[in-house]
Amino acid sequence: MPKPEGVFDIEHPFSKIIVPGFVMEYIPGIRLSRVNETLATSSWLNEIRKVRSLGYYMVDWGDNNALWVPEIKKIYLIDFESWGLPKNN
Ligand SMILES: Nc1ncnc2c1ncn2[C@@H]1O[C@H](COP(=O)(O)OP(=O)(O)OP(=O)(O)O)[C@@H](O)[C@H]1O
Ligand SMILES: [Mg+2]
Repeated sequence: MPKPEGVFDIEHPFSKIIVPGFVMEYIPGIRLSRVNETLATSSWLNEIRKVRSLGYYMVDWGDNNALWVPEIKKIYLIDFESWGLPKNN
């Protein structure tokens, strides 16, 4: 996953309102949904397994929400909105 940078005041691109924004590392990757490489898919499935083994439930975990960086053969999961731990934890 991309490394978190922190929460900063961000100007919304359309409304120009300043809002708190969670900023993460920029990943120069390609959406997995546009990649046709077995290693990319297997890395993605492995990453999903790791998230689940930590007890998180995932929302919207489709292959449009993963970035593949071919140069380092690494997958990054993005768009983890609403992910969480079960409430009874
Ligand atoms: N950490 C990141 N580094 C580089 N690009 C990113 C990063 N996070 C998101 N993006 C870019 O922004 C796009 C959309 O991100 P995200 O999936 O979080 O938003 P979304 O509103 O769900 O859009 P979509 O419906 O296209 O999935 C990604 O496909 C990617 O191109
Ligand atoms: Mg998305």
